[in-house]
Amino acid sequence: MTDHYQTLADTAMALVAPGKGILAIDESSGTIKKRFDGVGVENTEENRLDYRSMMLTTEGLGDYISGAILFDETIRQVMPDGTPLVKVMEQAGIIPGIKVDAGAKDLAGFPGEKVTEGLDGLRERLAEYAKLGARFAKWRAVITIGDDIPSRGCIEANAHALARYAALCQEAGIVPIVEPEVLMDGDHDLDTSFDVTEATQKALFAELYEQNVMLEGTILKASMVISGSEASDRADINQVAEATVDCLLNAVPAATAGVVFLSGGQGDVEATAHLDAMNKMGEMPWPLSFSYGRALQAEALAHWAKDPKGNRAEAQAIMLHRSRMNGLASLGEWSEEEENQ
Ligand code: 13P
Repeated sequence: MTDHYQTLADTAMALVAPGKGILAIDESSGTIKKRFDGVGVENTEENRLDYRSMMLTTEGLGDYISGAILFDETIRQVMPDGTPLVKVMEQAGIIPGIKVDAGAKDLAGFPGEKVTEGLDGLRERLAEYAKLGARFAKWRAVITIGDDIPSRGCIEANAHALARYAALCQEAGIVPIVEPEVLMDGDHDLDTSFDVTEATQKALFAELYEQNVMLEGTILKASMVISGSEASDRADINQVAEATVDCLLNAVPAATAGVVFLSGGQGDVEATAHLDAMNKMGEMPWPLSFSYGRALQAEALAHWAKDPKGNRAEAQAIMLHRSRMNGLASLGEWSEEEENQ
């Protein structure tokens, strides 16, 4: 392996180091507005920095969080004392990452389906992000389950874009996180989620191969195989864990550096319990860890929002606890006792 590829493989391994996972705080301006609206906080640049730096300056966070995915605004932000946020992260042992896609847009010719945009000019943007300190990136594709969807056309368009993005990242010395999210929305059952997730992941790895992407320097961000959020009879924790691992074993080459999950609307403890159940199943070809957004932040955000100054330390304690619980789950060592300590 050349030095260039070795660096990518080293970064990928550090992101899924034992007992650690990724914090996703890369909400776009629209999404963070929704989250702030939900807790009554005004969506200003200052509040966004205050909130996100509250999380990142949590003492000891680096013991459980290997890296954090930032939004374009955040990677450029500077703390009130003049220190760039990226420096603060590096000092805390948290690797800076960056969301680089331009969002999921309607896919022409395929009503109800989306394709993620953002390839134009990506080489130049990646070069700038690398200079700003980013060592890994994220691109999220969205696959919707519904009547007669997803279509093959949608799965393939998204897989192709993910692979083109991944190749550009590796050229820039940045580890790509490839995220084909199969949405939980709907009343579909576990088997349907399995079939769609398997088809999506298989199409993705076929495209990664076609585009010469090095799997040892790539991380899959996967959605779990899970019943639709409105399904009448939802699968339990062990069924979800078994179906998800079964799907991954069928679709994800062993050379892939690691698999991290999104939470996708699951409850905080539910997301932890699912990850823990998978890791209790025994040895896997890849580390299985987390890259949660909502499931890591929800409780800390709600607490911080009530009194951003007065509750800062308590919100950080909540953040640390949730991160530690997921760190334990990534080792298969989480328990209700640890949760309620
Ligand atoms: P959730 O864990 O809230 O689904 O967010 C993770 C993420 O980064 C989605 O792209």
